Amino acid sequence: MKTANTIKEVRAIVKEWRASGLSVGLVPTMGFLHEGHASLIKRAHEENDRVVVSDFVNPTQFGPNEDLESYPRDFDRDCKLCEEMGADLVFHPDPSEMYHDQHTYVTIDTLSETLCGVTRPIHFRGVCTVVSKLFNIVTPDRAYFGEKDAQQLAIIRKMVLDLNFDIEIVGCPIIREEDGLAKSSRNTYLSAEERKAALCLSRAVKKGQEVISAGCDSSVVLDSMKDIINAEPLAKIDYVSVVDALDMQPVEKIEKDVLVAMAVYIGKTRLIDNFSYKIK
Ligand code: PAJ
Repeated sequence: MKTANTIKEVRAIVKEWRASGLSVGLVPTMGFLHEGHASLIKRAHEENDRVVVSDFVNPTQFGPNEDLESYPRDFDRDCKLCEEMGADLVFHPDPSEMYHDQHTYVTIDTLSETLCGVTRPIHFRGVCTVVSKLFNIVTPDRAYFGEKDAQQLAIIRKMVLDLNFDIEIVGCPIIREEDGLAKSSRNTYLSAEERKAALCLSRAVKKGQEVISAGCDSSVVLDSMKDIINAEPLAKIDYVSVVDALDMQPVEKIEKDVLVAMAVYIGKTRLIDNFSYKIK
């Protein structure tokens, strides 16, 4: 497995692969990798001749009061996991390599204005911009994203359609801890007490799935989920919402495919979780 810090190196390596007729999968990450990321890399390895993992804490997707500085990093450990999962190249650029007097940004309306977009107004602009740049640098056949960040996945799918990227977007299921907590690099911020409290998210997901399957409207689903989270003293709801699976706009009657998503503060740490519900 190779590592590269510059765009030039990545382009040269991918050019050689292309000349040999090899397909390329891309897994964009911000590093501090865990089994969630590993599942994406493994899938990319199964479906492509070569796999590129990007490992870059993208400054443009963090708001001024967010955790850019404290975001956990461990590049050596990341490289080991990438190699084990079958990656061929890890791209680990400096912020100055990716952003050099940047004046061009990719924004997406409507889909970025609900859910996480409310408390994180510049977040998806940063995500769309960095992902577009990575797509142009790596020119993959396929790119892999987790359903853990379901709004991000919906936004990337729409961006790829709207901007005619010739790239297949592959969504991968949420990987959870044994007790149900969705794996996240930010779980390292939790104290032992908070780690226990954080289980209210996955418990709310389970409850929501039961209630929605019984044919209830969104308000009933949401109340049942909020009751579980509000019963946990360390938890504070940012949002719990039922939205259309494609445009991310709130729905009351569940007559089409929906995403049920939440963000909850456990102490100072903001965690997200979700489930999708498809109409039969
Ligand atoms: P990051 O949070 O590092 O996540 C990288 C990818 O791993 C995302 O597609 C995310 O959905 C997926 N992932 C994270 N936890 C997961 C889990 N428990 N199960 C399944 N997949 C999981 O998302 C980002 O980075 C950034 O926004 C990025 C797309 C790299 C742009 O900077």
